[in-house]
Amino acid sequence: MRFGHFDDNNREYVITSYRTPYPWINYLGNRDFFSIISNTAGGYSFYRDARLRRLTRYRYNNVPLDDGGKYFYINDNGKVWSPGWKPVKADVNDYSCRHGMGYTAIGAEKDGLRADLLYFVPLDDTCEVQRVTLHNNSGKFRRIRLFSFLEWCLWNAHDDQTNFQRNFSTGEVEVEEGVIYHKTEYRERRNHYAFYSVNAPVAGFDTDRESFLGIYNGFDHPDTVFAGKPRNSIAHGWSPVASHCLEIDLKPGEKKELVFVLGYVENPESEKFIAPKVINKTRAKAMIGRYDTVEKVDIAFRELADYWERQLSVISLDHPDPRLSRMVNIWNPYQCMVTYNMSRSASYFESGIGRGMGFRDSNQDLAGYVHMTPQLARERIIDIASTQFDDGSAYHQYQPLTKRGNAEIGGNFNDDPLWLIFGVATYLKETGDWSILDETVPFNNDSANTASLFEHLNRSFRHVVNHLGPHRLPLIGRADWNDCLNLNCFSTDPDESFQTTENQKGGKAESLFIAAMFVLYGKDFVAIARKRGEDRMADEAEQHIRSMAEAIDAHGWDGEWFLRAYDFYGNKVGSKENEEGNIFIETQGMCIMAGIGLEDGRALQALTSVNRHLACEYGIVLNNPAFTKYYLQLGEISSYPEGYKENAGIFCHNNPWVIISETLTGNGNRAFDYYSRITPSYLEEISDLHRTEPYVYSQMIAGKDAFLPGEAKNSWLTGTAAWCLYAVTNYILGIRPDYDGLIIEPCIPADWDGFTVRRKFRGAIYNIEVLNPEHRMKGAWEITVDGRKHHSCLLPLFPEGSEHNVRVIM
Ligand code: GLC
Ligand code: GLC
Repeated sequence: MRFGHFDDNNREYVITSYRTPYPWINYLGNRDFFSIISNTAGGYSFYRDARLRRLTRYRYNNVPLDDGGKYFYINDNGKVWSPGWKPVKADVNDYSCRHGMGYTAIGAEKDGLRADLLYFVPLDDTCEVQRVTLHNNSGKFRRIRLFSFLEWCLWNAHDDQTNFQRNFSTGEVEVEEGVIYHKTEYRERRNHYAFYSVNAPVAGFDTDRESFLGIYNGFDHPDTVFAGKPRNSIAHGWSPVASHCLEIDLKPGEKKELVFVLGYVENPESEKFIAPKVINKTRAKAMIGRYDTVEKVDIAFRELADYWERQLSVISLDHPDPRLSRMVNIWNPYQCMVTYNMSRSASYFESGIGRGMGFRDSNQDLAGYVHMTPQLARERIIDIASTQFDDGSAYHQYQPLTKRGNAEIGGNFNDDPLWLIFGVATYLKETGDWSILDETVPFNNDSANTASLFEHLNRSFRHVVNHLGPHRLPLIGRADWNDCLNLNCFSTDPDESFQTTENQKGGKAESLFIAAMFVLYGKDFVAIARKRGEDRMADEAEQHIRSMAEAIDAHGWDGEWFLRAYDFYGNKVGSKENEEGNIFIETQGMCIMAGIGLEDGRALQALTSVNRHLACEYGIVLNNPAFTKYYLQLGEISSYPEGYKENAGIFCHNNPWVIISETLTGNGNRAFDYYSRITPSYLEEISDLHRTEPYVYSQMIAGKDAFLPGEAKNSWLTGTAAWCLYAVTNYILGIRPDYDGLIIEPCIPADWDGFTVRRKFRGAIYNIEVLNPEHRMKGAWEITVDGRKHHSCLLPLFPEGSEHNVRVIM
């Protein structure tokens, strides 16, 4: 069952039924100011950090679901309704919510009155603009009252939801010329305030929540709105809100447009006040002035559209299946930009007060946006590397505002260092910007202890070499990619964190996943070292990689698939010998991507085992059989109910590793089949089961052992976005940046006739046409570049600004 449809020309998903199976959201904002908005106008805004600078309040896991947002109410002669259906939930006609690139447009009609709301964050400003269009489609004159509404958050989102004894006394506002200013704590240490304005005279306003709603009412029934009478309340403590009331006359057929601005302003210390207790509003007024006419708003909106046009023009696919093209051209890169901005902080599943930027997550996210914004990737790499320790290990997370490592969670996730090599290698392949390796980068943000970025990579590599276990395989530490495989934890205390507890010291558990990663990304380290003329270092590194591959050969194969790990006692994990959890996905993907078993049949056999034991209708589960009880020596993975999260859920992030592996063995049919099982545009028809947005990936889909297989959770902020884009563009379409140029090596379903891709790469444009007359899955029969035969799948580099035609016959 569907709840809307894709509008690819406008790059929108159009929701036409407001009762979506879960709130379907979008993100507004690109740099500093962000909003999350659902299809019924729920959500909130923040400046840079969703925890420390939360501008408007939102209650997670609320009843009813998704209550609270940027709401509008219309009182039409006593009849009250909302254009986004919520919060009033009066019946409306022709409801639609268009989630587009950085904007959301919601509208509906009631009794011949149409109301359309457009929400967006202008490109380089710290505000959300809301354009409200009212259209009298009826034959009679209308006089209505329009109410805006939002609820302020007292800045620190965590404190705001916990410290009520203080917070109920601190709230402060000012109202001047219809603009509502929120200035809680501005008197002492804060130099920032927020405001909410409208470009028309108001009939009144409210800033105190109880006065606006009535103490026992919900957002669906504000007393003021139903009475059609604002109270002009000024909040003193309790819960400050912002609501304007406008009286609007509409002749038959008449249309009126209004602009509301929710802004965030910082003042220099010396310019905070213009009189005792009166805030300096100069900057706010300038911001309001930038959007005080519909024409100005239209220009800002066009600039945003141009920005997305540029972002999305780097890779454009032309393929007869719109479900594929819309993911490759629109939604997948869009989601990747959101994961760049948010990491894992704020979504409808991440509260914005928990996690910082993950060391491994951010390195992987990079693979999804480096082609669109290499400069941001470069900055991000330096930020991440600056939190690394000088022994090569890393803080697992860092805080976005301070960019410092997060001591609470610490380090010892022994895969982390290698992800830095992956991140940097991916950046170099896309950009050819070798200068980044010479950047001076601190260890643990200590300016007295620095080294080149290249040396940081060397430390990453060494960290693995220096931490090998009894089988000469890497020690896992607290966990590897799988945060829930906690082999040195041994926790029986519900108040301990699985991630940060190590009850058995000197943990000897080993990870085959890190071993395979070491072989895979170690090769990148070698290639990078050679490019820099560090041949001795490269030779020596190759030695270590060979020994690691030998250790995997000797201790990593279980007969039909790759093992997952060795536990604290040296017992196998992910083996036929185990009671449950006999086979895991991660090592099948990572070993084959590292090239292990490609020549001797093990890769094919492992992929057959994946197909037999792990693949199901909705994707590939993480492990099988699911753990049905808690295994002290395995940790959190066995704490989840069967079929969810890391315990045999379809943890989508790792599915692309198998997809890539299938392409390496030439099985384009299966690669694409797996891709389409988890890719949201292919799941649109089962939205009622899938529940999360049909335009973005979710972290997890319930696996075959779950109560309800196919039901997804945790949409938007997941490494799945970057990895799926990477798998489909680099390995299925097979257009893959490498150090010396663009490689073209498609691996597609046999029934495809071909496709074309326009790819910008290092300043030049490649118009690539792939033809598949023989209906093969892989292998180029003939490649021509600008009409001339080309005897390699590595395409040449071209001068900036030039355009070239590449034709591949399979
Ligand atoms: C989450 C984490 C990621 C981890 C994965 C598997 O997505 O953000 O770092 O690799 O779970 O546990
Ligand atoms: C839990 C989750 C896992 C996530 C981790 C991050 O272990 O299961 O997915 O990566 O928390 O803290």
